[in-house]
Amino acid sequence: MNEAELIRLAREARERAYAPYSRFKVGSALLDAEGRAHLGCNVENAAYGPTNCAERTALFRAIADGAAPRSFRALAVIGDTEAPIAPCGVCRQVMAELCAPDMPVYMANLRGEVAVRTVAELLPGAFTPKDLDGGKQS
Ligand code: THU
Repeated sequence: MNEAELIRLAREARERAYAPYSRFKVGSALLDAEGRAHLGCNVENAAYGPTNCAERTALFRAIADGAAPRSFRALAVIGDTEAPIAPCGVCRQVMAELCAPDMPVYMANLRGEVAVRTVAELLPGAFTPKDLDGGKQS
């Protein structure tokens, strides 16, 4: 699956967003090592805080579906933004935990613009599992 196909799946997932408070729909698609795409959308909450972004929905869903952490090939995210959408800080931290540092993240908008950054570029100097226990975990 190529970049354009992954972004198209993210765009489809965006239609499933539950965003009655912000009215801002976001979609995501995460490509795993077997070539499967795990889709996510943002899911909001009346208490606001429990809101889950599209990227984390896709990442958590992939883990729950049995995909191996740090085996993913690419993540696409799309929203109706002027410039390609920028993932929030919490999602960047979750990417740093579950994805390889060199994994590409395709950030898109509905106009067809796309920016690409690696996970490490999105969160330089991230705190990751290797920082725990003096580097004994991985
Ligand atoms: N949101 C995402 O799902 N991903 C992003 O990259 C940016 C923000 C969601 C969270 C919330 O439901 C809405 O967009 C407005 O912040």
